[in-house]
Amino acid sequence: MSKEKAYADKVALHQSTGVAEIENVAYNAIFAKSFSRNEQKKLGCGALAVFLMIVLSLCTVLKPYLGPLPILKLRVPVDSGVYMLTVEDTMSSSFEQKKEDLSRYQPIVAEKEVIKETKIMCNVSERRSDFCEVDGDVRIQANSSTIFAVSSSQTGIPEPAGNDSWAIRPYARKGDKAAMGSVNQLWVKSFAGHEEAAPQCTLNHSVPAIVFSTGGYTGNNFHEFTDTLIPLFITSRQFNGEVQFVVTDYKAFWVNKYQVILKHLSRYEIINMDKDHQIHCFPRVVVGLKCHKELSIDPSKSPNGYSMLDFTEFLRSSYSLKRGTVTRIGDRGHKKPRLLIISRKRTRSFMNVGEIAKMARRLGYKVAVAEATSNLSQFAQDVNSCDVLMGVHGAGLTNMIFLPANAILIQIVPFGLDWLATYDFGKPALDMNIRYLEYKIKEEESSLIQQYPSDHAVFRDPPSVHKYDWQAFRALYLDNQNVKLDVRRFKATLLKAIELFHQ
Ligand SMILES: *[C@@H]1O[C@H](CO)[C@@H](O)[C@H](O)[C@H]1NC(C)=O
Ligand SMILES: *[C@@H]1O[C@H](CO)[C@@H](O)[C@H](O)[C@H]1NC(C)=O
Ligand SMILES: *[C@@H]1O[C@H](CO)[C@@H](O)[C@H](O)[C@H]1NC(C)=O
Ligand SMILES: *[C@@H]1O[C@H](CO)[C@@H](O)[C@H](O)[C@H]1NC(C)=O
Ligand SMILES: *[C@@H]1O[C@H](CO)[C@@H](O)[C@H](O)[C@H]1NC(C)=O
Repeated sequence: MSKEKAYADKVALHQSTGVAEIENVAYNAIFAKSFSRNEQKKLGCGALAVFLMIVLSLCTVLKPYLGPLPILKLRVPVDSGVYMLTVEDTMSSSFEQKKEDLSRYQPIVAEKEVIKETKIMCNVSERRSDFCEVDGDVRIQANSSTIFAVSSSQTGIPEPAGNDSWAIRPYARKGDKAAMGSVNQLWVKSFAGHEEAAPQCTLNHSVPAIVFSTGGYTGNNFHEFTDTLIPLFITSRQFNGEVQFVVTDYKAFWVNKYQVILKHLSRYEIINMDKDHQIHCFPRVVVGLKCHKELSIDPSKSPNGYSMLDFTEFLRSSYSLKRGTVTRIGDRGHKKPRLLIISRKRTRSFMNVGEIAKMARRLGYKVAVAEATSNLSQFAQDVNSCDVLMGVHGAGLTNMIFLPANAILIQIVPFGLDWLATYDFGKPALDMNIRYLEYKIKEEESSLIQQYPSDHAVFRDPPSVHKYDWQAFRALYLDNQNVKLDVRRFKATLLKAIELFHQ
């Protein structure tokens, strides 16, 4: 039962994050709170201008009290209790009303004390990850895995109704129980009342922090990108390096392997939350990473509209990769298309890679065979110098992120892996402007043919064999299958790739 669930979770996770679900609605946190989607569309630029004017005038009037604009709620005590100005409400009332509010508001602010409220915004309804954004006075007590949102109030006004404690596992594969089992649980708690009772800051930071885990499937190249690095890019790129990473389930090898990427996303040394004894204070903390779909980014959901093309461009710049786009074959100094065959040693390996390389050379390719290494600086250069990357379905194909745009990915799909192949690499390739060719092997090209006759249920009816049990599926089709390409059959795919370059 639970194994079936694990399989179903994986299928659902893949399917739910397919390209089909992209909605082309530009998402904006402030707009979204006050408008339905249709209204947003109708409003267009005119409304944006009016809105900006209002925000601008608010800024001018309230400047000394407003930090990051949509963040703070200002509460100002007046004679008859508490007057609240909720910045998010700006759009919902008329301009006239707003002017009136402002005129009432302005003189009071000038004299009375302002009470700051640290705001917690958690979203646990996204499909791939839970995350909280905390703005104001945020204190991370690593040894208790707790992030405190401290609201100061001399008058002891209690927290408004709502959740005052959230449990977050900051890893972006939340539907996958096996992955989440090795992810530390953190608490985001609101702390209201007398400030002196809150954990006292031992280190003050002026930049925002992002807290995430390198547990889960860290160690697998594909998961390191789809579950962590791409979500980290989505969540942190907007800060332009002025952001502090705080990592739980800290893996030194991961930090070392991706040091180039990490240094370009954050100018600060990573804080290892597992070993830290400080109380770190931040003006803003994001707990958990935002994630949209497998190995890709949905620009309609990401800050500044970042897309997968921005990510690949970021990688090229971080690793100083030379080629941004494939130049036409036949251009100077680039006579032959270059093909990199990714080999795998333990599972899903090519049984006749020599024969494949020979055929490709005969067709006019310059061929290299390599196994993906952990020295990314080197491997990124190798991949970037190629026009065509090919390999059997597996984590090594993740290296397509280093290809120049318009390059070609050829995925060899072993028996039974069609859906995984499409969701893990086929669809993501298109978002990177990589042209995608797929070669599905026949029974005779699978090593399974040595164990089962070609009319066996392993080939004819896979579900009746794995019974939707992920472990059984994995053991049979992922871990027990090598590939011997029929090079005469595969020739058509290699020719198709050359033809694409001449279009
Ligand atoms: C939380 O996530 C859901 C699901 O994607 C989304 O519809 C909603 O707008 C998000 N809420 C906030 C406040 O961002
Ligand atoms: C965490 O460290 C603080 C001192 O900074 C200590 O008072 C507290 O008891 C510790 N909490 C745990 C759960 O170890
Ligand atoms: C409080 O947070 C938990 C997750 O940590 C969530 O399951 C629950 O629905 C939240 N409660 C409210 C009232 O929002
Ligand atoms: C951190 O900032 C607070 C508020 O400005 C201040 O009271 C406190 O002394 C600072 N702590 C440290 C360790 O610098
Ligand atoms: C990785 O490869 C680059 C380029 O060849 C080399 O300069 C660097 O020393 C290598 N790094 C490691 C850790 O081997």
